[in-house]
Amino acid sequence: DGPSVAIVGATGAVGQEFLRVITDRDFPYRGLRLLASERSAGKRLAFEDREYTVQDLAAPGAFDGVDIALFSAGGSVSRKYGPAAVASGAVVVDNSSAFRMEPEVPLVIPEVNPEAMANVRLGQGAIVANPNCSTIICLMAATPLHRHAKVLRMVVSTYQAASGAGAAAMEELKLQTQEVLEGKAPTCNIFKQQYAFNIFSHNAPVLENGYNEEEMKMVKETRKIWNDKAVKVTATCIRVPVMRAHAESVNLQFEKPLDEDTAREILRAAPGVTIIDDRASNRFPTPLEVSDKDDVAVGRIRQDLSLDDNRGLDIFVCGDQIRKGAALNAVQIAEMLLK
Ligand code: A2P
Repeated sequence: DGPSVAIVGATGAVGQEFLRVITDRDFPYRGLRLLASERSAGKRLAFEDREYTVQDLAAPGAFDGVDIALFSAGGSVSRKYGPAAVASGAVVVDNSSAFRMEPEVPLVIPEVNPEAMANVRLGQGAIVANPNCSTIICLMAATPLHRHAKVLRMVVSTYQAASGAGAAAMEELKLQTQEVLEGKAPTCNIFKQQYAFNIFSHNAPVLENGYNEEEMKMVKETRKIWNDKAVKVTATCIRVPVMRAHAESVNLQFEKPLDEDTAREILRAAPGVTIIDDRASNRFPTPLEVSDKDDVAVGRIRQDLSLDDNRGLDIFVCGDQIRKGAALNAVQIAEMLLK
């Protein structure tokens, strides 16, 4: 019972997490097709007491009979094969940035803007976009506060994990760490500079305005998800040598006053959010603590003392990039289609 599901990029970091999330959430499916590049075609993958053969995405009929296609193989793959999946009647949940800003494509965080999915139906081909991982993690915490006091301006600084650049980047971080400890020159295949024991500006291309693409995604996607063209957002995105969870410092300036106790109550009630905010023992969210977890963790909840009348808050947010930042959010979108 359930839909026939295809996973595009099944051998990748997010693709593998799709499978784990499907099991963890008992997502119902009648069939499962694992698609990747021709490099992986023929590879056998065990999942839920069955063995699957990875199929070449480029082979004809790859989407025949597929109801839901979860894509995470990069933007160019989504652009090339997404339309074919839609044409064969599938709803594509796309983890890449390829279609996010297209006006007719819903950009969805289920806890934040489920209404954007109103016109998407199983059986009618369509694309739904999964937001950028940093955007999802930030907005999981910022949105409940925004609903209460309306954010006028948001300043984000990220500390982003290797996983956002894929399984190969995670391997490179491990390898480099070992190499540096052994006094060897670090192998730099994925990133152009030493990653272990270092931090650097996000590897996304830098644009003419001085922002990199990752930062501009946070700016544009926030406006679209909140359906608020006026909200002011600025971001600085940094890679840190962490395996799979992002951290973000978020400064929020509000239209209405919002004191930190009320903010804490609001966040305590927010779905998908856990508060870790123990000042006495200096215990706050860490990437390690949220790794493999569904919830985004929020702490360092404090009044911004540079603003009068409780018009600002500082928070620190951590979320598993592969899970809520990608695979979990996409599977939650797929679950909405079953309702
Ligand atoms: P493959 O393993 O065959 O290269 P990650 O984000 O961890 O790097 O994973 C990327 C995923 O996208 C992998 O499953 C990879 O498959 C898949 N992929 C990359 N390029 C293509 C392509 N041109 N066609 C199909 N799948 C692709």
